Amino acid sequence: MFSRRRALFGVLSATVLITSLSQAGGQASGLETYRDASAPVDRRVDDLLRRMTLEEKAGQMTQIRVGKLRGDCQYANGPLRDDCMKTVLQDAHVGSILSGGGDFPVENTPRAWAETTNAIQKFALDHGRLKIPVLYGADGVHGHSNVVSATMFPHQIGLGATWDPALLEQLGQSTSRAMRATGVFWNFAPVSDVARDTRWGRYYETYSEDPYLAGTLAAANVRGQQSHVDDTAQLTATAKHFAGYSQPLNGHDRSPAQLPVRLLQDTFLPSFQAQFDAGVRTVMINSGAVNGVPVHASRFMPQTELRERMGFKGVAVSDWQDMRYLVDRYHVAPDYRAAIALSVNAGVDMAMEPSNAGEFTSLLLENVRSGAVSRGRIDQAVRRILRLKFDLGLFEKPFVDPSKANAIVDGADRALARSAASEGTVLLKNDGVLPLSSGVRKLVVTGETADDARRQLGGWTVEWQGVPDGYPIPPTATVLQGIREAVPAASVVHAPTVPLAVAEAASADAVIVVLGEKPGAEGPADTENPALTVEQQAWVDAVRATGKPVVVVLLTGRPQVLGSVLGANALVAGWLPGSEGGRGIADVLFGAVNPSGRLPVSWPKVVGDQPMSYDQLPGANGGPSSKYDPAFAFGHGLSYTTFATSGLSASAGTVRFSVANTGSRAGTFIAPVYVHQPVSPVLAPENRLVGFARVTLAPGEKRDVSVTFDLRQLAVTVGDVDASGKREVPRGSYEAVVGDARAGFVVR
Ligand code: GLC
Repeated sequence: MFSRRRALFGVLSATVLITSLSQAGGQASGLETYRDASAPVDRRVDDLLRRMTLEEKAGQMTQIRVGKLRGDCQYANGPLRDDCMKTVLQDAHVGSILSGGGDFPVENTPRAWAETTNAIQKFALDHGRLKIPVLYGADGVHGHSNVVSATMFPHQIGLGATWDPALLEQLGQSTSRAMRATGVFWNFAPVSDVARDTRWGRYYETYSEDPYLAGTLAAANVRGQQSHVDDTAQLTATAKHFAGYSQPLNGHDRSPAQLPVRLLQDTFLPSFQAQFDAGVRTVMINSGAVNGVPVHASRFMPQTELRERMGFKGVAVSDWQDMRYLVDRYHVAPDYRAAIALSVNAGVDMAMEPSNAGEFTSLLLENVRSGAVSRGRIDQAVRRILRLKFDLGLFEKPFVDPSKANAIVDGADRALARSAASEGTVLLKNDGVLPLSSGVRKLVVTGETADDARRQLGGWTVEWQGVPDGYPIPPTATVLQGIREAVPAASVVHAPTVPLAVAEAASADAVIVVLGEKPGAEGPADTENPALTVEQQAWVDAVRATGKPVVVVLLTGRPQVLGSVLGANALVAGWLPGSEGGRGIADVLFGAVNPSGRLPVSWPKVVGDQPMSYDQLPGANGGPSSKYDPAFAFGHGLSYTTFATSGLSASAGTVRFSVANTGSRAGTFIAPVYVHQPVSPVLAPENRLVGFARVTLAPGEKRDVSVTFDLRQLAVTVGDVDASGKREVPRGSYEAVVGDARAGFVVR
């Protein structure tokens, strides 16, 4: 009898066969598990990892600049070359390629970018034994800003002035669409560093001096960048530069920082934590040194803080050539092999090497063979990298459609860029000259930045130092253009010199002076004198002497000390407002938009007052040196209407109050909510921002608002002078502060 037993045995053996197939290699179809998109990611990672050689693993930990694959395979641009791609992608198994600021294709179009990334991807997949896709990265720090035809959004400092997380999320989605359309699935943005010192060349790359505001906006931008995708792989954002990078002792980029761990944990890390909580998948390590230790060589930073205390689980990538700099610049390693071991063991998973693939991978392999770096550490790093690539869907969607790229990128979201520019514009001072009448007869527009797109766009545009002289300029509406479009019937005279401006002012209704600074990034943008130049101040003085109303528009990446310019009739901070900046600012100048921007940073009165921030700690002498004495305070910003807050009440974690529009025109009001701690276990700033409300009200309208905040935002690093331990929320009495009102609450 064909026993039931035999039948049962038959079923069991079939089940065993299918199960073993699925475990050993995916579906019954024989597909390896790692190639099976329906398999759990952890299983795919495990399966692929065990198939990889040590050489292939070392390659995944390497990121090389695209210049090594094309042209002269050094710095001269040109078409991709198979021989150079073989050296990097096949021989060294490199798993990530980047465009540094300026590494664009010869024809800098979205289509050409897409064709380039596709060709690199194809070469890697065709010549890779396990067909692991390459992950391509670039700095889309204000839109897909290496691409000359892309829409350049305002730089982060101006977006910080919007206090608008929803806007930051939209901008993240837009930037993600543009970068993904070109096959770039890793954006080295946003910058999470907090603004602390206006001498620093990267000040404009930050959102704010306040950890909460910076973190809230950065987290929103990350959510936007990493949000739902359409027909391409997903994009990963980057929290950078971890950490303690933005307060170098002497204000110069990459010069050492001396930060007590309390200051590090309570001021510099929270904006990173906000992004980790928002799911950012990668972090870039700070090139600088903290307390005498380069962060790329520190276990405390990339291991203890990043992984153990803050819980980050994604990929930690080095910054540019920073493992090599442990030898050449920091002299903490005798040679490159030792530097690689030091940094990989510190917790850096991938090296933005970015030029010598063979040297890096062979030295890393030497370290493993000598035991200087364990195989377990290699597997840990590679596991994170593979997981990232699986999570992005890169194995299933490694390519993009070049035929769609131009349509997706060119001219995208110009209206969003315009509203971002006007929302980030801060009305610092206004004696009533603004808004200008749309019936104005004649205006003089002057100042070196009135019609200068390069200065208006700033650094990290096409090139890292800004649009190179002689290179085509991304489509940009300058302030002069924006004003001309706003009042087409008026005579708008552009006066590129002081004498012409003075002469033309005599018959004008008002003079607009647009001042800025030359584009730049990093060290080249450092300054020992973060102030308007003598020439700029003289320019404004001269037109003010005509007796005509003078409006000064500041297109600067940092709050420059104003000097005599403080005396102008109106002062407007437009920051680095991007492609639509001229229109967005004109919208504010003529009242099409009622300004709502608030300073995300303190505007210093004198150069020597750096580093400056509103949350600086109280001093003992009570004199001016310990007092906070800016020209315009953090959170300052005027409107064309007036608002009033009332009815403040507070409990632990919730603050309620009413906002009324007491003026004659609609407007958006941003209400910062601070917390004051009457008695604290360690020095506490007078006030700390814990939340804010944004309300748009018609004239006479009143609305009740409620702002909630996480009590953990009140945490401080407790302990004595040598404190380096945990953070905790001190129990006791606090006060919520909104405007001039205070309301007590208790944390138990
Ligand atoms: C630079 C910057 C970093 C950027 C990287 C790649 O040195 O420090 O912000 O992402 O190199 O361009």
